[in-house]
This record gives sequence, C-alpha cells and structure tokens, in this order.
Amino acid sequence: MENIMICNCMQVSVADIEKALHEGQQFGDVEKQFEKVQMVTHCSTGCGGCHDKVLDVISELMG
Ligand code: FES
Repeated sequence: MENIMICNCMQVSVADIEKALHEGQQFGDVEKQFEKVQMVTHCSTGCGGCHDKVLDVISELMG
C-alpha cells in the first residue's frame, strides 16, 4: 500500500502523502491537510486527476 502511486504527474506515493501529513500541525479538516500535503509534495498540481484519490488517502490516514 505504501508504494502505491497516487499522483502520477508528480510521482507522489501513499508513503509520501503520509510523511507530509505528519509534518507540522495536525489540526484542521481534510481540506486543510490536503493543502499542506500539496504544498510539501506538489501532488495534484499537474493534471489534477488525482485530487479525489489524494483526499481519500488523507482521510483514511487521518481516521
Ligand atoms: S495525477 Fe496528480 S496531478 Fe496528475
């Protein structure tokens, strides 16, 4: 699961998202965490097609 590629454009895997998620402050909702993960990994800044997948992974990791 860790090595599953979530964002092909920016080569961001589940593990990368998990790492970014644990950086900095943990409060906030999924959208806030998404912004943080995006800032760190640049996921979903290419075609944008992975947006929902990234959100899914974040909410799964948060829950
Ligand atoms: S797959 Fe993530 S931006 Fe294209």
